[in-house]
Amino acid sequence: MSTNIESRPRVWVSQPLFDDIITRLEPYFEVDAAREVADHAPSRIAEALREADGALVTLNDPIGAAEVAQAPRLRAIANVGVGYNNLDIAALQARGIVVTNTPDVLTETTADFGFALMMAAARRITEAERWLRDGQWQGWAFKSLLGADIHGATLGILGMGRIGQGIAKRAAGFGMRVLYHNRHRLPEAVERECRASYVDYEKLFAQSDHVVLVLPYSAQSHHLVDAATLARMKPTATLTNIARGGLIDEAALADALAGGRLAAAGLDVFEGEPRVDPRLLALSNVVLTPHIASGSLATRRAMVALAVDNLIAALGFGPEAGKPRN
Ligand code: DGY
Repeated sequence: MSTNIESRPRVWVSQPLFDDIITRLEPYFEVDAAREVADHAPSRIAEALREADGALVTLNDPIGAAEVAQAPRLRAIANVGVGYNNLDIAALQARGIVVTNTPDVLTETTADFGFALMMAAARRITEAERWLRDGQWQGWAFKSLLGADIHGATLGILGMGRIGQGIAKRAAGFGMRVLYHNRHRLPEAVERECRASYVDYEKLFAQSDHVVLVLPYSAQSHHLVDAATLARMKPTATLTNIARGGLIDEAALADALAGGRLAAAGLDVFEGEPRVDPRLLALSNVVLTPHIASGSLATRRAMVALAVDNLIAALGFGPEAGKPRN
């Protein structure tokens, strides 16, 4: 279906995504799509939303009460990502603006990456590569770069949603014992399928050899992993974060890693992205990646395709008209 050009709603696409997928918006909308990676300044976002009926945005486009107040026509926001802490949901809901995200399509890819990052931290893979490239390898040495095992170890998963469950299923193949903590305990059948046991927050950190964070970020979970939590962990343990940087007090983590109170960390997300705490950058026992856990080509394309479908539906068009997904 295509609409009369005069009356077509306007949608803003905040970043260059995949043109061949974004084109699917064109039969329905007047599309204002960014041609270059632009800054995420609130003033630019407010300006872009001023005339928009809908927007397709990414996790680094913050939209709060001030932007909403300057967007009188805005009816729908499709976030390309499963996390939506860039959006002020209360402000958007107060205006009746529909918000959608892209769960499911990124679950397996993100779980793959979480597992890889945990393994890289435990087995010191990036540290070893730097060492070799720096010309420090003088020949096979029995005791160099000794890491921690994955197989047979205890994995603690904080946040047992789809991605957490995906990581638990991978852990079974490595013969790991899996503990989890979550706001709500999972049904027994799901626990069995994931071969995971529910424990409280304290036990998760105290008993695990490797902890992976996969929970949503909010004001309530801000710096959930602080100095006190880190002090509970085994000094031989690793901590991996593929959720949001604000979950960890990064200064406390740098202290623990530098002081030998935690063996290693794998971080894909940071509190002040793209800024990374210089203390973390200086440490060799932390693997740092630039927020790429969902970044396989197929998955990023699937995320954009789902966000496009969501926006079309949320604005009342397409086969899903009237049934916006979230
Ligand atoms: C998300 O979807 O929330 C990820 O952090 C980015 O893919």
